[in-house]
Amino acid sequence: MIYNTSMQYLLVSDLDNTLVGDHEALLVLNQSLKGHRQKLFLVYATGRSYPSARELQSEQGLIEPDFWITGVGSEIYCCGVLDLQWAKRIAEGWERAHAGSIAQKFQQLLPQPKSEQNAYKISYFLDPRAPSHLLTDLQAALTDAGLDAQVIFSSNRDVDILPAKANKGCAVIYLRDQLHMPAENTLVCGDSGNDISLFEQSTLGLIVGNAQLELLDWHRNHGKPGHYLAQKPYAWGILEGLAYFQLPS
Ligand code: GLC
Ligand code: MG
Repeated sequence: MIYNTSMQYLLVSDLDNTLVGDHEALLVLNQSLKGHRQKLFLVYATGRSYPSARELQSEQGLIEPDFWITGVGSEIYCCGVLDLQWAKRIAEGWERAHAGSIAQKFQQLLPQPKSEQNAYKISYFLDPRAPSHLLTDLQAALTDAGLDAQVIFSSNRDVDILPAKANKGCAVIYLRDQLHMPAENTLVCGDSGNDISLFEQSTLGLIVGNAQLELLDWHRNHGKPGHYLAQKPYAWGILEGLAYFQLPS
């Protein structure tokens, strides 16, 4: 895929353990992005809730993005305002209480704090002693109940249940549509299971050198030519990928 230099480009990055993780690398990347901010749409796509992502922003000095995709794609924010059109779209066919009651039957799913739950996201920690088939069983139980819900597993610990239409990848397609941004001018960056949906889309993709096993496994089986596996970790890996794809950096 060839980057069209006459256009703006869209950079979508996960936060924890992708953009954030090595402070020196983050400072270097911030500096270089600031240098061509007008050529760039910047989106942070995180599993965190919006308040928690904002906290991380001020702790780490993250530059202000154009959009926030939070709660693994269950919410989109622009200029501090929740995108209600997105909320309406993912609400269709979603039965939160029913999905939660099915998940509750799995005792090795331990609810995450209330602050990480929202109307379109139910999150758990997986007991490390749980059998390996638990997540397949959970997905099957949701599907058998006629629920259009997906189970996303990240960092060998986090389990999110979301409407089938809500994940980071679907949220990026929605934003690309609004921005009229072609796939070849979009780069997505990630490190873990909740980023897989980003790489399932037809954009350029960058996996940082410190990626989790679940994403590396996915990449081994489903990776595409437009995906680049960085040698370097965290934001160093993003800088490596920007250079590889010859995007302004
Ligand atoms: C973040 C969220 C958590 C979620 C995890 C994986 O850590 O806080 O709720 O389960 O990302 O998506
Ligand atoms: Mg991450």
